Amino acid sequence: MSDDLPTENVPTQDELDLLRYESRIKRPLQMKIPELERDERLRHVIFGGQFTVDLLEELADTADKIRILSKLRSGQDFLINLLSHKRAMLYFTQPSTRTFLSFMAACQILGMTCNEVRDPTTSSETKGETRFDSIRMFSSYFDLIIMRSKLPSLAECCAYLMNDLQDSGNRSVPIVNAGSGADEHPTQALLDVYTLQRSFQFADANGASVLDRFDELRNSYPDLTKGLAHKVYGFCGDIGRGRTVRSLASLLAKYQDVTLVFISPDHPTLTLRDDLRNRLSEQGVRIHEVTSFEERVNGVPAIELLDALYMTRIQKEHNIPADDEHFAQMDLSQYKLTRQLVARMKSYAPILHPFPRDQHFGEIPPEIDNDPRAMYFRQARNGMWIRAAMLASIFRVDHHIARYFYDEYKDWNNADEGNVPTSQH
Ligand code: CP
Repeated sequence: MSDDLPTENVPTQDELDLLRYESRIKRPLQMKIPELERDERLRHVIFGGQFTVDLLEELADTADKIRILSKLRSGQDFLINLLSHKRAMLYFTQPSTRTFLSFMAACQILGMTCNEVRDPTTSSETKGETRFDSIRMFSSYFDLIIMRSKLPSLAECCAYLMNDLQDSGNRSVPIVNAGSGADEHPTQALLDVYTLQRSFQFADANGASVLDRFDELRNSYPDLTKGLAHKVYGFCGDIGRGRTVRSLASLLAKYQDVTLVFISPDHPTLTLRDDLRNRLSEQGVRIHEVTSFEERVNGVPAIELLDALYMTRIQKEHNIPADDEHFAQMDLSQYKLTRQLVARMKSYAPILHPFPRDQHFGEIPPEIDNDPRAMYFRQARNGMWIRAAMLASIFRVDHHIARYFYDEYKDWNNADEGNVPTSQH
């Protein structure tokens, strides 16, 4: 069975199952969040908006510890025993490189066994089994389901299915949304925020002289502060269809004094969607929507104002025929980064991209890859650490990691990659 909903007039069981959850899907996010938690901790991960700033800081702290422990054989041995009694199902019916592999690597770091369904033609869905039956079957054999689907609310519905199963005394496991339609990609937003958290510590690349770099930058940018608050974030490209943009914007909105600048072609498919604009405005976020890097925001060309830039790919695979026609007549070259544009950015401003980038369109040409602000490859690797931290939080072994870390490194102040031993104990 493909991810496309059937179009016959008689609804399928799959469609009926989705309709069953419609009223729950339509509720405001704040009403849903308690249902995605257990004992005020993460259980299902469905929306970017689920994460508080405190939780994001906790996850980043755990990710840093996992990253450092993974440098040592003794640390690896400790981590790999934490969840060796757990099994994860990766149910990815949409293509993926980074999310799939980094989740698999994250599971492996913590010792979890993984299995996968990537091609539904190899599952019994081809015999007419519904997605909801498939998911319930996975929950019989596994302790966690990580899922990517073309259907916007499928992961959310599966979380409700699991909650209903639990309420009726049946087996139920956490659901992690690894990308749902054009809707949400919350764990991508986690790694994006983690990359920004690390960038805005302004630590020296080798971990030394933390204060030096920040102090140096303050000579040129006197208002600069550490952390994600009080910053201007730019999003460029396919804003309308970018689920990573939606999830990351929801997370950034939680930080104080944040401005979001959306740079996209003036076309209804590609500009900011009304629901996200309204949600961000309600949260008090300052929003600017412009059509080029040159357009002025508060009197300054957008490219020069940004503290961080999030580039995205034009997702032409989602074009309808009318889009193809319209886009062919538009000048989309303005939504490509060039060396000249990068030279005008703030000297510390990280450049992110969820990847894949489009080699044919070239929104970030490879000539920018060696710029110290180009974070996208590190960003992808960060996905492995933050996803491992998230799994540790879901299965409540994050405190074990913190305790082990402090026991191991109690003699080191501010342990980080630059000043912990890397020899094997
Ligand atoms: N960023 C991202 O989701 O990449 P993949 O589609 O390769 O998983």
